Formats: sequence, structure tokens, C-alpha cells
Amino acid sequence: MANIVLTDVCNLRCPYCFAGEFVNQDANEISMQNYRAAKEFILSSGESSLGLIGGEPLLHSRFKEILQDVIEDKRIRKATVFTNGIHCDEFLNEFAHEKFRFLINCNPPSDTGQRQYQKLCDNLEEMIGNRYMRDKVSLGINMYKPDFEYDYLIELLEKYRFDQVRVSITVPNLEERGRQDALSYFESIRPRMFEFFKLLMEKGIRPHYDCNRLPACMIREEDYEMLREETARILGGRKLTANMVEIVRCNPVIDILQDLTAIRCFGLSQYTKVPIGRFRSIAELREYYRREVDAYACNTVHHTNCIDCERRLTAKCYGGCLAYKMNDILKLQECSRRQMELHGQGE
Ligand SMILES: C[S@@+](CC[C@H](N)C(=O)[O-])C[C@H]1O[C@@H](n2cnc3c(N)ncnc32)[C@H](O)[C@@H]1O
Ligand code: SF4
Ligand code: SF4
Repeated sequence: MANIVLTDVCNLRCPYCFAGEFVNQDANEISMQNYRAAKEFILSSGESSLGLIGGEPLLHSRFKEILQDVIEDKRIRKATVFTNGIHCDEFLNEFAHEKFRFLINCNPPSDTGQRQYQKLCDNLEEMIGNRYMRDKVSLGINMYKPDFEYDYLIELLEKYRFDQVRVSITVPNLEERGRQDALSYFESIRPRMFEFFKLLMEKGIRPHYDCNRLPACMIREEDYEMLREETARILGGRKLTANMVEIVRCNPVIDILQDLTAIRCFGLSQYTKVPIGRFRSIAELREYYRREVDAYACNTVHHTNCIDCERRLTAKCYGGCLAYKMNDILKLQECSRRQMELHGQGE
């Protein structure tokens, strides 16, 4: 699924936000004409789902019109709205349509402020408690510091009887990235993360990774055992999903920006911008990112542990988010461009 970035504007300032390059820099929202062009591009390969993202997408001045367009477009079967949940009350009638799903990014009251947090809680109550939208909603957390808070989220998950939660280890911003290697960053988050996972699973809630997963080499035997035991208790089998313990690479997400350039994902926004007009379809664009970015990922090593690691050699692990490796990937791209020129095969 690819996403359309509707606006840079956001009502929050999440400390970890990697959309920071865009968010609140100016009030740049997508025109209706470009929204339609982005939508056509996504649907051009026969895809039937798309995401609406931002900034905070609900703050687009014509968001209702966009929701209506999605409802009326018969080719779209599913549309996911990425939101911080605080303005959901303004669109409840449209949101009730069967096509919509919501990924609600829940920040703690200490980050959002009590008033905004209360608004989020009121909106969840309206959507889930009163309008029965629970099956359309996923709650998510961004684990962004070693002592990240989670009690508030467990309370919400229990209140609405969720059995899954989306978890994401945030990608540090560019400045921090330069100072820290991926593995020591993961190590700083790991202890609290497993404490959180254990509590979740004891309550019958399974975590599901989104971005930037913990590499398998950093999962200790006792953590595996806890995950196995709890999975067996919840699901009646000890088999863990690859999402949790095995695969640490990601497919190109593809976000289409307001000016109809695409990025592979927000974490790589500075390096991967290309105009969508250069490609015949979203499938071709995805292939371009696989060839120009992902193909190099397993050939760049950031830690001596990774050199002989089978998971790297078999392309199961990138050793953390590609954002950490982007400088090396750029150098490798340059190298192969020169080789191609040397052999008379350059562009
Ligand atoms: C950029 S936000 C835009 C949509 C909406 N405002 C929200 O917060 O969901 C989209 C997603 O990016 C994720 N995100 C933001 N900063 C991140 C980071 N540094 N690393 C990983 N994910 C991040 C958040 O979890 C959020 O779900
Ligand atoms: S709500 Fe979303 S876009 Fe806004 S600052 Fe937080 S993560 Fe970024
Ligand atoms: S490639 Fe590196 S980070 Fe990934 S599992 Fe192997 S040693 Fe760990």
C-alpha cells in the first residue's frame, strides 16, 4: 500500500517525529488536482488500497471532500487513515464507511498535554464505544526513548479489548543518527520494550512491529522464551511470527508528496525523492527503489557482528532501519554508476 501525504500541518509536535523535515515547516497541502493524480498513480497497477497520511491528514482544508472521493471511487476497497486521533470527531459520519481503517498513533498525555489526550480518549470512546468501529481501528505506540511510557496505552487497549497493538521503534532524526549506531540504540530501548511486551502479552495483547524492528541477534534467550510461552498461552501454539523475531528488512512503503514526488519512506525522505511522472506505475516505482536502495542494504555493514551473519547474507536483516546506512548506500550507488559508465551502459 502506498500513501498520499495530504498536508505538512500538524497539531502536535511529537518529539520523535521523522516527518519533521516537512511537518509544520509551512502550510503546504496537496491540491485536489495533485491528490487525484497521486491516487490515479497508486491505482494504476491494479492496487485497491491506499493510505492518507501527513502531517496530520485530518487538517487538510478539504479532507471531507477527499473522504467522499475515496467513498465514491469504486476501485478503492480499503483506505487507511494515519492519525493522532485528536480531530476524528469532525469526520465520524464519513469514517463510518466500510472502506476506512484507522491507525491511531497514541502519544502519552505527558507529550500531548492533558487536554489533547482527553480529546483523543473522547474520540476513541465515540468511535469504538458508541459507533462500534473497533474492527476498523488499530492503536499504535512509538517507542522513542529508553524510559518510554506505556501504562496509558495498556489502559486504552484493555478498555476496548484490543488483542493486538502496533509497535514501532522510532528512527532517530538525522542529527542523532550520525552520533549513534543502530545496535546501541536498539540496546537502549530493548529492556523496557520486553518489559512492555511481557505485560501486554500477559493481558492477551500481541505486539506487532511496524517500522525499524529489533534485529534477531539482540533478542536474548529469556526474551524468546517469554515470547514463546505467551504466544502459546494466547494462541495455543509456540510458533512466533516472523514479524516479531525473524525478518528485519522492510519493503518500500512509498509516500507521495504534495508536489507529486515520491519518497521510499519518511525515514529516507531526504535521499529518495523522485517525480512519480518518471514511472509508468507504482509497481515500476517500487521496483526502482528495490533496485536503487534496497539492493545495496545488505552489502553495507555497520557493525562487525554483521559481517559474517547469516541473516545479513541471506537478506533477512538490514541491521536496523536503512536510514542508518544511507550514506554507505549512496556511495555504493555512485560506485555502480561509475562501473556502468565504464562499461558504456550508463544512462
Ligand atoms: C508521520 S505520522 C503522520 C500521521 C499522523 N500525524 C500520525 O501521527 O499518525 C505517520 C506515522 O509515522 C510514524 N513515525 C513518526 N515519526 C517516526 C519515527 N521517528 N520513526 C518511526 N516512525 C515514526 C508514526 O508512528 C505515525 O504512525
Ligand atoms: S502527530 Fe504525527 S505528524 Fe504530527 S508530530 Fe506526531 S508523528 Fe509527526
Ligand atoms: S545482520 Fe547484524 S543486526 Fe542483523 S541479525 Fe545479523 S548481526 Fe544482528
